[in-house]
Amino acid sequence: MTVILAADDFDLSEEAPAKINLALHVTGQRADGYHLLDMLVTFARHGDRLGFRASAHDEFSLSGRFSPLLAEASAGGNLVLRARDLLRQAAHDAGFEAPPVHIHLEKNLPVASGIGGGSADAAATLRGLTRLWGFPLPADTATAIALRLGADVPMCLVSRPLIARGIGEAIELLPDFPSFAMVLGNPLVSVSTPEVFRMLTRKDNPPFALPLQATNNRMQWIGTIERLRNDLEPPARALCNEIATLSQLIESQGALATRMSGSGATCFGLFDHLEQATAAAAALHSLRPDWYFQATETIKGDA
Ligand code: C5P
Repeated sequence: MTVILAADDFDLSEEAPAKINLALHVTGQRADGYHLLDMLVTFARHGDRLGFRASAHDEFSLSGRFSPLLAEASAGGNLVLRARDLLRQAAHDAGFEAPPVHIHLEKNLPVASGIGGGSADAAATLRGLTRLWGFPLPADTATAIALRLGADVPMCLVSRPLIARGIGEAIELLPDFPSFAMVLGNPLVSVSTPEVFRMLTRKDNPPFALPLQATNNRMQWIGTIERLRNDLEPPARALCNEIATLSQLIESQGALATRMSGSGATCFGLFDHLEQATAAAAALHSLRPDWYFQATETIKGDA
């Protein structure tokens, strides 16, 4: 008998919200090859979910629409186990023994899709195990572990609207940032992040013109977002033809702004109300039942 587990069956659960790059400017490159970025980031109320409980030995289980893809893409699942191991090592170094644990990942987000699923899972693992183990993890150690797991993991630890610079480690929170209704769309073609970066023809694009607004007015923010760019969108479109079609489809549903997130292929459309986003997601689903569409709202700055 197969028992299908869900995160809610566990003693303790954590959300791993989708990370949305509302804008991403590539402003330079470090000597080690990593790119310097300016990113305007928010997080969705939709994402993966993780469950944690004490166990006689370490265990990992998976459920959710996209769990079958994890083994192939070697993202998400792997990062969860790496996060567990790095945190256990940090605990051990501090003289604290971290007992075995069963971690369950409900994989609701498409894999390798530019919305940080694997990074969000790793961050949720750090948050969840810190709680389960009762290990008092200092904030700077948490950030250092997160950065070792990936450039986007420190911002996923925060999971609040923010501006990130450097490769993603220099974070400034945006407490006034409003919530948006949103449609996420993905053609279920995974796009390789290193390949998108390799295809960049220009790496010294203009940074954000700062300061960005300190306002909670949605229309003002949409104006700001429209003046910004995602510099990874042209190379991602060159690698994945479906992105142009997807973006046009979302725009045709009356989105206030449409853009690709991260290195793609997920695109988002912003809407005034959740009902409009829900209707748009339903219409998009009937146009392309083989693609992924999800209506959601994003998390407010002071939530
Ligand atoms: O840090 P993460 O593992 O998510 O990055 C995946 C790959 O994306 C890196 O190996 C690198 O090739 C590229 N990358 C980059 N500059 C960044 C973030 C990622 O070149 N700021």
